[in-house]
Amino acid sequence: MAVPIDTYMEANVLPNYEAKCMVLSVVVIVTAVFWVVIFPYVASRLLMEPEEVDTSKKKDTPSTDTATTSSTPSTKAKPSNGMKRRGKSNKKSTTDANKKTTQKDPSQAKDETPPPEPPSVPLPILAVASLGCMVSLFYEVMTMSPYNTFVARGVFQVPILTALECEQLINISMAAAKINQDMALQEQQRAEIAGESLNRSMESLLWEPKGWQKLRHGNYPTTDLNVITDPFQKKDLDWLQEKLDARLAPTLSRIYGLPESAIRANDMFVVRYDADFRAKLENHTDDSDISINVLLTDDFEGGGTRFWKLNHEGMQTTKGTRMIFVGFLGVDRIDPFAKDDNRKPKLNLWASWLSLPWVSTKFKEAYSSMIHRKEHGGVKYGNNKYVEALFLDLANVFQIVGDFFAVHHVKNLVAPENADRFINNLDEAYRERQQKEVDDTAKATWFAGQQVDLDLDGTITAEWSTRRASKNRFMEL
Ligand SMILES: *[C@@H]1O[C@H](CO)[C@@H](O)[C@H](O)[C@H]1NC(C)=O
Ligand SMILES: *[C@@H]1O[C@H](CO)[C@@H](O)[C@H](O)[C@H]1NC(C)=O
Ligand SMILES: *[C@@H]1O[C@H](CO)[C@@H](O)[C@H](O)[C@H]1NC(C)=O
Repeated sequence: MAVPIDTYMEANVLPNYEAKCMVLSVVVIVTAVFWVVIFPYVASRLLMEPEEVDTSKKKDTPSTDTATTSSTPSTKAKPSNGMKRRGKSNKKSTTDANKKTTQKDPSQAKDETPPPEPPSVPLPILAVASLGCMVSLFYEVMTMSPYNTFVARGVFQVPILTALECEQLINISMAAAKINQDMALQEQQRAEIAGESLNRSMESLLWEPKGWQKLRHGNYPTTDLNVITDPFQKKDLDWLQEKLDARLAPTLSRIYGLPESAIRANDMFVVRYDADFRAKLENHTDDSDISINVLLTDDFEGGGTRFWKLNHEGMQTTKGTRMIFVGFLGVDRIDPFAKDDNRKPKLNLWASWLSLPWVSTKFKEAYSSMIHRKEHGGVKYGNNKYVEALFLDLANVFQIVGDFFAVHHVKNLVAPENADRFINNLDEAYRERQQKEVDDTAKATWFAGQQVDLDLDGTITAEWSTRRASKNRFMEL
């Protein structure tokens, strides 16, 4: 039997998502019942009390003149206790009064029929109840949901690859870089003969270190190779996929409380920081729900990643080459690649719309999608500039509020002496799973779903230019 993933993790560090969310659900229901039912009932009752005293005095005097009874506002006619009971007693006293007056003087009775009391709670109580309800529900979800507290700004360390596997991944990357370099050299010769000039991305492959991309990732370019759009071999990708399926998927699923199927890599690449070339990366945040970073080399000086909540920087490598394997992962509620009738929601509410970090990322993506539509045509949400500003504001507000409630911590989840056992345990569990069922839709997506921008509703806004240029590669996956 497979040993659960917790076996070699430090005891009780990770939350029990199911139990916590169950407790949270109960607390939320009790809170809602309190503010919607109990509070209005009790508060109305307390507010009515002074009048109640009045009524009882009047009731004591048994001069039950029909005229007075019918003209007395019904609240005074009987001590009222909250909405339901009051409604009932009103009805009774009114009809009684009507009956009596009808007997005496029907014309007068019409005028004196008391206006029916609206069966509602006084406005101030309603206002307090609504506000109280919203504030306490928000506070509970923010402080009790592990999706908002424990993982939202957490950094977690787990062994994913052995030293030998790291070396293998470096070798694989070097081979891909060599293919890039040869291609660029050929292209350069061809261009020289044809009297053309190389485009910048082709030219950059010939800069040091040769064969590596230099211009990806916008304002924070890294020296890297993407595992799909750069020439990695199919057999090497199969090897990598197995490692990711066996180890990364169950680990992320456990740490972040997500089904594996909700995890989709949007960019996976090997980065190198060379002391002699590009040696560091400025303070920045990633456009991803989850980022992973696997250190592949150890023969360098300096380097490392430094964090301030979401912000982080790649520290200067002062000697040698530091290589890391990086993944920017999206957490999807809906599979952006599935057909419409099959776009099953994969995330529960706590992990999606009630998780502020998740919502913040989605609104940031929605904002980028609006900008993209503005530049490339296409209409959604009326292409309204106020909607655009709203999306950006929401993303920022949610991030700031999320920062406030989330714990920023760095946790080493597996003791160094347990690293090998942890990895073997995961591999064994994976082999057993492979024998039982081979349901690909239940798996994380590492390769096929890369390099797209999504909109708020999970639809694809745009494919990256590198994905469009590598259509065939993606078709093969
Ligand atoms: C990586 O490549 C080097 C040099 O070619 C070789 O000596 C080494 O055995 C390779 N390592 C692995 C794990 O394939
Ligand atoms: C650069 O040129 C090469 C051919 O020389 C071409 O395959 C590639 O798509 C071009 N890249 C861009 C970004 O235009
Ligand atoms: C990085 O950015 C964060 C957030 O803006 C800031 O708090 C931190 O001081 C910055 N670090 C450096 C070294 O500039």
